[in-house]
Amino acid sequence: MLSIRSLRLSLRFVIPLVIALTVLAYALVPLVDNLMLRWFVRDMDIRAQFVANTLHDPLVELLQQENRSKINALLVRATRDERLLAVGVCTTEGKLRYRTRAYPESIGCLPDTAPGKKISPLHRLPQGAVHVSINPIEQEGAQIGSLIVIHDMSFVERRSTDTRKYVIMFITLLGVIISVITVFVAQLSWRGWMDGVRAMIRGEGIVKPFAQPAVASELQPLAGDLRQLLRSYDAERRLADDVTVTWSPDFLRKLLHDQLAGERIIVVSNREPYIHIKMPDRIEVHRPASGLVTAVEPVMRACSGTWIAHGGGTADRETVDRNDRAHVPPENPEYVLRRIWLTDEEETGYYYGFANEGLWPLCHIAHVRPIFRSSDWGQYIAVNQRFADAVAAEAASDDPVVLVHDYHFALLPQMIRKVLPKATIITFWHIPWPNPESFGICPWREELLKGMLGSTILGFHTPFHCKNFLETVDRYLETRIEHESSTISRHGQLTLVESYPISIQWPPPWQETQPPVSECREAIRRSLGLAADHLIGLGVDRQDYTKGILERFRAVENMLENHPEMRGRFTFIQIAAPTRSALEDYQLFESQVRNLADRINERFSTGSWQPICLKAEHHEPEEVNRYYRAADVCMVTSLHDGMNLVAKEFVAARDDEQGVLILSQFTGAAHELHESLVVNPYHIEQTAEALYNALAMPDFEQRARMRSMRTLVRDFNVYRWAGRMLLDAARIRQRERLAARIGRDL
Ligand code: F6P
Repeated sequence: MLSIRSLRLSLRFVIPLVIALTVLAYALVPLVDNLMLRWFVRDMDIRAQFVANTLHDPLVELLQQENRSKINALLVRATRDERLLAVGVCTTEGKLRYRTRAYPESIGCLPDTAPGKKISPLHRLPQGAVHVSINPIEQEGAQIGSLIVIHDMSFVERRSTDTRKYVIMFITLLGVIISVITVFVAQLSWRGWMDGVRAMIRGEGIVKPFAQPAVASELQPLAGDLRQLLRSYDAERRLADDVTVTWSPDFLRKLLHDQLAGERIIVVSNREPYIHIKMPDRIEVHRPASGLVTAVEPVMRACSGTWIAHGGGTADRETVDRNDRAHVPPENPEYVLRRIWLTDEEETGYYYGFANEGLWPLCHIAHVRPIFRSSDWGQYIAVNQRFADAVAAEAASDDPVVLVHDYHFALLPQMIRKVLPKATIITFWHIPWPNPESFGICPWREELLKGMLGSTILGFHTPFHCKNFLETVDRYLETRIEHESSTISRHGQLTLVESYPISIQWPPPWQETQPPVSECREAIRRSLGLAADHLIGLGVDRQDYTKGILERFRAVENMLENHPEMRGRFTFIQIAAPTRSALEDYQLFESQVRNLADRINERFSTGSWQPICLKAEHHEPEEVNRYYRAADVCMVTSLHDGMNLVAKEFVAARDDEQGVLILSQFTGAAHELHESLVVNPYHIEQTAEALYNALAMPDFEQRARMRSMRTLVRDFNVYRWAGRMLLDAARIRQRERLAARIGRDL
């Protein structure tokens, strides 16, 4: 459609064009008139000359004979030509001797018909214009008279009127054609220009790698300046935020209020934050062992809104209203939990199958083969669509802020975008992103990538995962990738790919209510029948093959081998929450963990002491927190992990600034917690040595390390994680609105 703006722009050109063409018409018409008249006069001159030449000789002869009747007959015959009005013969004295009937009286012989005298051939008579040609009649070199040939020129006027009409019509047509072309070109240029400016404002690049420039060439100098300005503005704002801001629930709430006009956000994840479980005599509420829930739940409490998740608890249906909603946390409701019910078939295909037998091993380099089945893929699509429908139903506006979590919902962003094109969709991928070759194994890799690129922002834990993602998209999809701004543009949809290291709530939960460290130490030791000075190592994980639990046990074994003085003095407690137990790989892993613990215990146990205490059951977070406070060492030895929040939870729990963290180099947390003892979990001896060093570490060193890590977790807490994403979302929303406004106002 023609925009009013480009029409207005075009009019600025079209009106002067109309004026110029009118002036041109006025100047051109007399010019053309004159030119045509000259052509006709020349034509008449030639015709008159021809008539005179034809009549000359017979006329000389008849004049000699003075044969009046024959002269008149000759002259009358000559005037049969349509345009020849009259002819006459004048004497050398200027007397009209012979003439045809129509010969105009007023012409006569003309006073100045003297030979050689140049006179205008045109004469205006009452009956119209005539062309008069005077031709000498000569006999033997002497002039004996003149032949006057008079042509009717009235047709010239008629022609001139026609010509004027045609010239004006031609100029008008020319004007119309130029105007139409101008409006069309203006419209195209306007659109191109506007697209260019919008692209600049959105942060898109100047150059397409395999297409034309994204920003029109004439905008490129401006593009540089504008983007520079926006970048420095962003950088300044980020810096100001980070220096001056204490990230807290209140600050996050305020930020949402100020930057996103108080939006209530919609969160989507597979795992729900509160699970209702039916017990024989009551319903219990469980909080799942999930990094995602640990991080997102406090954010939701701060921001409120709606969290859409799979209702998988045995009493979940009994605890929702008729819209499938529960208000949580149950003891002090702050947001809405909207549950989605999945059939066994859906859960098997989408969750166990595609998500956890396919994508989970695909994204973790943990040497477990991914399994991809078409039927699982079908369920994955169907369940993603069901969640997209739920988002559309829960959205209170046409541009909600939606936070999509994890690999269960790679298709969801694009599905939401389809029904809510103006939504701000933040997708956070909680697990690692592999290199392009590994990801390429997935038979539906293009579909997954296209689905994810429906997001406004795509977040990963580390810059390395972002880099892998950009390279994967580059390998398998035709898009425009801007490495400088870390954006991907596909079919007009721009996605910012950014790292947002996830974290935990700060101040830590239960800070006010938890028992002092000394009490926790004593209570845990007492419950296990251990002496007060007994050393405790701790592992807290879901029982997942990516967590490196077997390698950890082997490191404990190796340490006990190499440091026999630790036997009877040290116990390793492994809290292992059952997870995905319906899957064969997980069942196998559970039995491997159990068998290895048994074998090591058999090998070293003396009396009541056993080196490994395996607690393979669900523990509520408060309970886990007491273990954190009681431990001397916490071991996080994942073979591959997005972030691993156990590491941060342990640090947060230690307000006594004691305790040592052993951390796998393959976790995102290792990029932040530099004062931990970083190990390669595949290197059993190295990990065993780190365990021994941790147990032997002096208090002052523990304090220095722990203090530094606590400062980091405090400053880079989960409110900052969410806040950074929401700030970026707000910035993009503002840019999009600005771009739309520029499109409207200019
Ligand atoms: O942090 C990764 C993650 O897969 C989360 O998405 C999930 O909530 C958590 O681990 C636990 O897994 P599950 O939800 O399958 O029990």
